[in-house]
Amino acid sequence: MSNVKKAEGKLGVMVVGLGAVTSTFMTGVLMARKGLAKPVGSMTQYDKIRVGEGENKKYLKYNEIVPIADLNDIVFGAWDVYPANAYESAINAEVLKEKDINPVKEELEAIKPLKAAFDKNYAARLDGDNVKQCKDRWDMAQQIREDIRKFKEENGCDRIVVLWAASTEVYVPVDEKIHGSIEALEAAMKADDKEHIAPSMCYAYAALKEGAPFIMGAPNTTVDIPAMWQLAEETKMPIAGKDFKTGQTLVKSGFAPIIGTRCLGLSGWFSTNILGNRDGLVLDEPANFRTKEVSKLSTLESILVPEEQPDLYTDYYHKVRINYYPPRNDNKEGWDNIDIFGWMGYPMQIKINFLCRDSILAAPLCLDLVLLSDLAARSGRYGIQRFLSFFLKSPMHDYTKGEVPVNHLFQQYVMLKNAIREMGGYKADELID
Ligand SMILES: NC(=O)c1ccc[n+]([C@@H]2O[C@H](COP(=O)([O-])OP(=O)(O)OC[C@H]3O[C@@H](n4cnc5c(N)ncnc54)[C@H](O)[C@@H]3O)[C@@H](O)[C@H]2O)c1
Repeated sequence: MSNVKKAEGKLGVMVVGLGAVTSTFMTGVLMARKGLAKPVGSMTQYDKIRVGEGENKKYLKYNEIVPIADLNDIVFGAWDVYPANAYESAINAEVLKEKDINPVKEELEAIKPLKAAFDKNYAARLDGDNVKQCKDRWDMAQQIREDIRKFKEENGCDRIVVLWAASTEVYVPVDEKIHGSIEALEAAMKADDKEHIAPSMCYAYAALKEGAPFIMGAPNTTVDIPAMWQLAEETKMPIAGKDFKTGQTLVKSGFAPIIGTRCLGLSGWFSTNILGNRDGLVLDEPANFRTKEVSKLSTLESILVPEEQPDLYTDYYHKVRINYYPPRNDNKEGWDNIDIFGWMGYPMQIKINFLCRDSILAAPLCLDLVLLSDLAARSGRYGIQRFLSFFLKSPMHDYTKGEVPVNHLFQQYVMLKNAIREMGGYKADELID
């Protein structure tokens, strides 16, 4: 029997950034609620997990194992640098056709972005004016806290989850002196240390302080710092991140195990893509791309590990490029060239050409991450939620304790299933379904 608290009342989903991903996510949920679209790709809506063993085994959907919030109970809110409401944003993004947006036009129009906590130094290519005036970073966090409290009250929400689906900020390397403890982080916020405190950290800080789980969907290092882990422990709130695992990295984390399990060698993996949406525009800035690159590069090294198989994986060349190319808008095209070698070192090549739709792949992840973080909070899980690694390109792990991230897609899936089983009062296991 599950001892997770029931998902009663409304769940406020407050999203930082009301761009392509967020507007696609919101439109899909609202359309699904009306029975006008299917939430394809969402694990919480479709996947079935085996519970029990032998003659007791059965396959159940997540909400038959644990109490998951109903789509009808979701209330959306957002912050953005630009004032466009969710309807305008969905139209501008050109991800969905108008016929798939118009049936929920009124509901989308009602989602008007709150003023953003923003600093142009973190995303130079954006210049909207729907921005908060803040005395310092501390004030920025306090204003966000106020937004969350107000939203919760005005919408009669029982619980809030905050999801970052805003632009990728410039890379902020972890600095132990500032990011190492809550006290140091708070002191830096009060001292208005703009260099080390990204606006995203103010959102995360505010969310946790207001008793809301925080999810980082971009590659920002926001919650990848000991100060945030401490805060999550203190507030008993789940945190998850980072970077939605959607297109090329999903393929990589599912394909690399083929090479690894068959003990084939790898001499190089070159990934490149073209993308023309606003995300692509922001990532065209080298400092912002650096954040993405760090996140994308981490995937292979923990699946094909040189130290474990020196003959097969020493010194492979791994390169990731993103190219801004406006004509393709959200319809990204990715190319992977994989140079492998086999018996007696003979070389072979594999080419993967993925013509995907970025926001169509990201939207179900938003839904699952939100619903599962809310579930985790109700089940008393807090801190880094490793079971959500399945959805993330660069999964959080406590590096101060020597933890390594799990990037292997199928190992991540086992972690996800076992967490659901445990929360549902079943035994975790690794049996083959
Ligand atoms: N779509 C995918 O497949 C995918 C995969 C992994 C990660 N992501 C990440 O998701 C994020 C969103 O992607 P998108 O395509 O929707 O981008 P987008 O540019 O369409 O939307 C991002 C929005 O965030 C807003 N924003 C930026 N900084 C903000 C701040 N401080 N506060 C409030 N709003 C802010 C921008 O004004 C913009 O409207 C990006 O960081 C992207 O890297 C997307």
